[in-house]
Formats: sequence, structure tokens, C-alpha cells
Amino acid sequence: METKMMNIKIEKAKTSKINQVDFNNLAFGNVFTDHMLVCDYKEGSWKVPEIIPYQPISLDPSAKIFHYGQSIFEGMKAYKDEKGDVFLFRPTDNCKRLNISAKRMAIPEIPEDYFMEGLMALLKLEKDWIPQTPGSSLYIRPFIFASGTGFHASPADEYKFIIAFAPSGAYFSGKVKVLIEEKYSRSANGGVGFAKAGGNYAGQFYPTQLALEKGYNQVIWTDDNTHEYIEEAGAMNIFVRINDTLLTAPTSDRILDGITRKSILKIAQDEGIAVEERKITVAEIIEAANNGSLKEMFGAGTAAVISPISTFGFRDVDYDLPELSDNYATMLKNRITDIQYNRAEDKFGWRVKL
Ligand code: PLP
Ligand code: COI
Repeated sequence: METKMMNIKIEKAKTSKINQVDFNNLAFGNVFTDHMLVCDYKEGSWKVPEIIPYQPISLDPSAKIFHYGQSIFEGMKAYKDEKGDVFLFRPTDNCKRLNISAKRMAIPEIPEDYFMEGLMALLKLEKDWIPQTPGSSLYIRPFIFASGTGFHASPADEYKFIIAFAPSGAYFSGKVKVLIEEKYSRSANGGVGFAKAGGNYAGQFYPTQLALEKGYNQVIWTDDNTHEYIEEAGAMNIFVRINDTLLTAPTSDRILDGITRKSILKIAQDEGIAVEERKITVAEIIEAANNGSLKEMFGAGTAAVISPISTFGFRDVDYDLPELSDNYATMLKNRITDIQYNRAEDKFGWRVKL
């Protein structure tokens, strides 16, 4: 992608950590590259971003991020093909969603050219960190938080936009066991569930811990009003296959509008699969599990890619999903990753080359 550079200053790291990394055994999101992009919002405007060595940030103890949680983020990936060319997947959608989150959290929106040019400049510098090992990629974490100070409960006057990179492997190792949650809620009507706000994740940790203690990997959230409808999981949207129809909950102000979700819907339709975006009741999933028409459930997200669900739990009963050889999850995962890693034609125009 062409960028009309806006003179991003680059301070290079004195030494690189790259030789300390085992690219064949990458976990998710715990190794960071040599540099990061930092952009400050002060006196009513975003300043020119800078690239500096990856390092800790110093903040005033009264910075509003600590007290009032003004913090949003995105999750995206860079992929390297066999020739070493680098690609992003629908990156401007992440920028648009970051700004949707920003608006809801009273954070100033980041101009798209700052986001894209900053990201491209950092990616050029860190190209060697993008793994080529199968199933691995460079996880990209753009985020904005309130660095402005004061205990007054009102939006900060200063913010930081940072992009950090983490070469990463799979988010889940193996199949996922989920618990359908009826007591706690992730989000509510009129709330911030559609935003990628840090607090949405903090609020999930305790109920998810309780699920982990029972042997599950994730919670499937239900609507806060009746707890009768499934919504999404902690870090992914949820798909259900009943007979040959693929179902997913419609987005709302309680659900994150996942980029993987909407890509999967397009690919499934392109494959001639019957797709329905509609409210899905827990009762119909249980009925389908009992009468054999529930064929598959899987989660979809940038970090999780497509993660098949092996079992779901509800009211102390576990329901195992069948293992189909011609399952949608594998086919859809192959199709989306073939586009992401430049192994297939990009008929929807989603790929952006560095
Ligand atoms: N839902 C939640 C709560 C998430 O955190 C994510 C991850 O980003 C998703 C869904 C999937 O969204 P995307 O496909 O854009 O990564
Ligand atoms: C992503 O899929 O990129 C996410 O943001 C999920 C994250 C909570 C790990």
C-alpha cells in the first residue's frame, strides 16, 4: 500500500531481541518486537506519531486510565507469504472500529492516515519479526488510553495512541470447551459491549475464572435481559450450525462487530451455505443437540481465527459436538487463512500489501 509519509520520526533500538525468539514455538501475545509507535494527543490535537524502541511508559498516578478506565484497543494481524511478502487483512475496518470505540468512550478519534501510515511505517521496520511458521503471524495491538491527569471523573485532556507488535501462535491450543453463562452479563442495552473497551474484558475475567475452574476455556454470553439468547464469547463471535444452516447472532450495541465474523458470513454465502443472522435461543441449541441436528459450533476472531467448540456446558450438563469430516469450520478457516496468507485469490478485496 502506498503511504504519503508524514515524517514519522524513527529512533532505532540499539540492539535487536530477535535472535532470542524461538519462532517455531510461539505462544500468543507475550513476545514483543523491538519498536513501537507512539502518538500523543495534547492541546486538542493528535501530534505526529513517533517510532521508538519498545519500552515501558511512565504515567502520573492520577492518569485517568487508572481511575476511570478510558481505554480502547484493536486486534489485527500481519501475515507473510512464502515469498516473504507481507499482508494485512481489512486494516481500515480496524481503524474505523477503533474510532467507533473512541466515540463511545469519549476519547478523541485517531485520523485514519495516522493509523495507517503509522502502522505501515512500523511494519516496514519490524518486517523480519513476522513469522512464516504455519499458523503463526504478527499480532498487532493498536490502543488508545487516557494519559491526562486528575481525579475529576470526566474525560482526560491527554491521550496516547500506541501500536505494539507480538509475533504469535494460536490463541487456543486445541478445541474449545465453552460454558453458556446465565448469571453474569458482559454487556447491556445502551452499554459499551460493541466497543473494544478495556473494561469489557476486565468485567469478564471473574465469571470466566469461575468457568475455567469448572474446566471450560471460555464463557458464551447470553443477553442481559432474559439470558435466553446466545450473544458472543469473551474474545470471539459465535457461529452455530444446525443441519446445514449457519447461524450467528445479529450485532447490536451489546456485541462486537467482528471483522472475522463478517468475513465468514461473506465466504459462507459465497460457498452456497445457507446463512442466518438472527437471534439464537439456548433452548433451540439444546434441542438441536438432543435431536442430532446440532452439527457444529465455532468461535471466530482475529486472535482465535476459527476455533471449533468441542463441548458446551449449560446448567451443569455438558453437550458434546460431533466430529464431522466435512465440517464448515475447517473449510471456512482454510478459505479465510488462504486469503490472509496470500495463498488464494482475494475476490472480496480484503488484503492490503505492505
Ligand atoms: N468479540 C470479542 C468480544 C472480541 O474481543 C473479538 C476480538 O477481536 C471478537 C469478537 C472478534 O472480532 P474480530 O474478528 O474483529 O477480531
Ligand atoms: C482479537 O481477536 O484480536 C482480540 O482482540 C481478542 C483479544 C481479547 C485477545
